[in-house]
Amino acid sequence: MRQISTAVVLSTFAGLVAGSLLDPDFDPSAYPQRVANCESEGHSLDIHYVDINPDGHRNLVLVHGWPGLWSTWANQISYLSKDPQYHIIVPDLRGFGSSTHPGSASFHEMADDLVCVLYDAGETSAILIGHDWGSQVSYEALRSFPDVFQGASGTIPYIPSVGDFVPIEHIAKQLDHLTYQIYFERETKAAASELAADVRRSLRSVYQDVAHPPPKAFLTSSTDFLKAYDGEPLDQRIPFLNEKEEDYLVQAYERSGFLNTLQFYTHPFRFGSHEYASKEGRKIIDEPTALIYPDADPVVEDWAAAMELLHTRSFVTNLTLFKVHAAHWPQLENPVAFNEALRQWLDTFPPIEYEEDEHDEHEHGHEGSDDEDQLVAPIADEPLLEPLLHEDL
Ligand SMILES: *[C@@H]1O[C@H](CO)[C@@H](O)[C@H](O)[C@H]1NC(C)=O
Repeated sequence: MRQISTAVVLSTFAGLVAGSLLDPDFDPSAYPQRVANCESEGHSLDIHYVDINPDGHRNLVLVHGWPGLWSTWANQISYLSKDPQYHIIVPDLRGFGSSTHPGSASFHEMADDLVCVLYDAGETSAILIGHDWGSQVSYEALRSFPDVFQGASGTIPYIPSVGDFVPIEHIAKQLDHLTYQIYFERETKAAASELAADVRRSLRSVYQDVAHPPPKAFLTSSTDFLKAYDGEPLDQRIPFLNEKEEDYLVQAYERSGFLNTLQFYTHPFRFGSHEYASKEGRKIIDEPTALIYPDADPVVEDWAAAMELLHTRSFVTNLTLFKVHAAHWPQLENPVAFNEALRQWLDTFPPIEYEEDEHDEHEHGHEGSDDEDQLVAPIADEPLLEPLLHEDL
């Protein structure tokens, strides 16, 4: 049985938050990192992650995209960590930040990494929350490990691995703002050098919001990344990051470089991911998924239409859609609407059953009573988005 519901997060409140920061004091360098020693497809590697509210029983793994980092979830960490039920685990994917790279990568290997990190954090189950390519990593993890993961949300639709492998050249014919991916695939090293020449400028070119659209030609060249910005100084800070967050991001990319982070675009990654998933039996994801997608993304203007192109709906049977007014970074640009969508979707999961342990002193004296109140402590924030439309498609 298929169930698709749509919740359109109206943009009434978007003006309130556009360009403003949910937590102006968020300081990524104040968060200690843990390191999981992982093994995947014969490779060993270290995945760094931030571990918040380890006593929470509803485990969430937040998965960044490109060119992201764990800290691009700052607004969700600030919001969700106020609720003690959430144990929030936020890795830097292989090749990003301080996480190492074993020289090989694919969506399924990254899915292995997520399981490894989850176990390292002392947990055996979680809901995944992805952004950009982190969405596809999350869907692949859910597809591969349905006994571990209960659901996955993403900002891009699930890309099923069915039929023949489709090269990026073909996809870019229909979605011309994906042409930059041809450059990243064919000239990965040159692209990494171009991006590394001025890391802050490169990141600023990508981290834009609705109010600062990129030049029209951006993302449409198969031979360079930044020429479309020629003559533009890009001297303003990324609109939805505070100074510490931007510096942290820039320093991380100055240290790690871009080469490994461009893995998503290489032929071995794409082809290997497709071959692996297409040979596996399970194609259809019946577990709950959500698409919390931006309505003004310079990469793909209409994600709902792209979803039809990808035949996503035939491969995810329980999909909830939320549309958020934002460009490519809805979780950063419009955190109020994004968090509200996330919260609504998370609330549809059945409450976690768990054994009492030494961490749960508050449970004593509640025998026979419904202790759901303890499990689901309300987030202190006001209800943020009044008008949500739900309509069954
Ligand atoms: C779909 O997933 C939600 C959780 O997001 C769950 O509450 C609901 O029961 C699921 N529906 C079906 C038909 O499985």
